[in-house]
Amino acid sequence: MTGPAVSFYDQHPGESSLRDEVLGGLARTPKAIPPKFFYDQRGSRLFDAICDLPEYYLTRVETGILQDCVRELAASIDSRCMLVELGSGASRKVRLLLSALKPTHYMGVDISKDFLLESSRRLARDYPWLDVHATCADFSSKLTLPESLPSVRKMAFFPGSSIGNFDPVQAGRFLKQIARMVGSGGYLLIGVDLKKDIDRLNAAYNDARGLTAAFNLNLLLRIRDELDSQIDPDGFEHLAFYNEAAGRIEMHLRSIKDQVVRIEDHRFRFEADETIHTENSYKYTVEEFAELGLSAGFNSDRVWTDAERLFSVHLMCVA
Ligand code: AVJ
Repeated sequence: MTGPAVSFYDQHPGESSLRDEVLGGLARTPKAIPPKFFYDQRGSRLFDAICDLPEYYLTRVETGILQDCVRELAASIDSRCMLVELGSGASRKVRLLLSALKPTHYMGVDISKDFLLESSRRLARDYPWLDVHATCADFSSKLTLPESLPSVRKMAFFPGSSIGNFDPVQAGRFLKQIARMVGSGGYLLIGVDLKKDIDRLNAAYNDARGLTAAFNLNLLLRIRDELDSQIDPDGFEHLAFYNEAAGRIEMHLRSIKDQVVRIEDHRFRFEADETIHTENSYKYTVEEFAELGLSAGFNSDRVWTDAERLFSVHLMCVA
């Protein structure tokens, strides 16, 4: 692909391996595997398909909110700035921002180097006036930008309610790191899924086509295919439910019978109905999230929601 050059920085994020985390996670009680392992090629494709499902309102509603608010955003933010996208994706969302805001600089941050290079080169090609940078980093463990960047105001962009994968304490710490990264006068534009009718939440993670189930069960296919294991994916089923006390959707893989799973020379016993906890997806009220931002050093500038109040987009500023 030809086009303007991308300034690339590699922080060499340590690859935490599927093997180590699965062996560690299955040895714990309760058993758990972190959600980052959902996203191999098959899992990423399934997630894209989930985003188009009628039940999975999050992507559709957030995109609609962004469409409606970008003009207002553009009016209040100087275009001489750097848009820093955390988890740089192939998404339409950042393109909406680039087209309306016309920021002078863009920085994509992602753990997957190939994916990051490909998507940032595509942006450089499609937005020839944009100064494109890319940093390969695991921003969930350490969020710092390269030192010699243009000294312009920064606006971090963290869409998709990805913040929901952190528990509120971790989320607060992460917001603090973003505040330090963008610095005084910097902004954060962040998409946050809202607390709502429980049936609506449960339906979003139990779709009729079974794509969310396939996405969850894909973890077991990875264990079967990538590790030395005789695990039988048919011995487990998808389980997702809203835990109201904790304010989160929980996803689990539930063993349908007493069974023993071998990985290398380790043997993991499952009782019938015992689960592997695979994901939390925290939901907030607008007020709860503004409060979390405040305790991390952000003032809430503006909050946009859809008419049904399913999803929120917060613009926050470091005082
Ligand atoms: C990417 C973490 C925002 O929690 O809704 C979708 C992932 N899991 N369906 C979410 C997911 C099941 C998603 N996030």
